[in-house]
Amino acid sequence: MKIEKYSFEYEEYESIDELTPSDALLVEEARKATKLAYAPYSQFQVGAYAELASGEFVVGSNQENASYPVGICAERVLMASAAQLYPNQGVRNMAISYHNLNGKSNRPLSPCGMCRQALQEFESRHNQPIRILLSGMEGKVFILKQATMLLPLSFKGDDMK
Ligand code: THU
Repeated sequence: MKIEKYSFEYEEYESIDELTPSDALLVEEARKATKLAYAPYSQFQVGAYAELASGEFVVGSNQENASYPVGICAERVLMASAAQLYPNQGVRNMAISYHNLNGKSNRPLSPCGMCRQALQEFESRHNQPIRILLSGMEGKVFILKQATMLLPLSFKGDDMK
């Protein structure tokens, strides 16, 4: 028996003020995108804003439904939108923010498990690492080099070969 270890590093910034202007813009736009959310059930508005490899920008927000499992997270709305508007373009940077209407929105939160799985496959299908910028409406910002870092020992299409 041996023990394997998985760890990863990420950057932590005290606020958006410490970011480069281009990163700050991505975070600001993700914060704005929370306003596009349709989240009457959770009151938890998530916004995502991405820069594609081509330099285009795409936005996403969570879209809920009275039949709760029908709802889609902001990250997957964004990826589906990018795939339609700009086929074959990977995502280079994705900022994700949230506005919790029933609580605080002052610390970075990270994508749910289903989105981690979707982000990983979006990265691999376009052979383009997705740099992830996480924040609330204020406070710290975390930056990860690659979305796949969030999903160790993941299940991939190749596993079915
Ligand atoms: N949500 C996202 O949009 N992204 C995530 O990564 C986490 C959760 C949404 C789903 C649901 O509409 C609301 O946040 C509460 O879970």
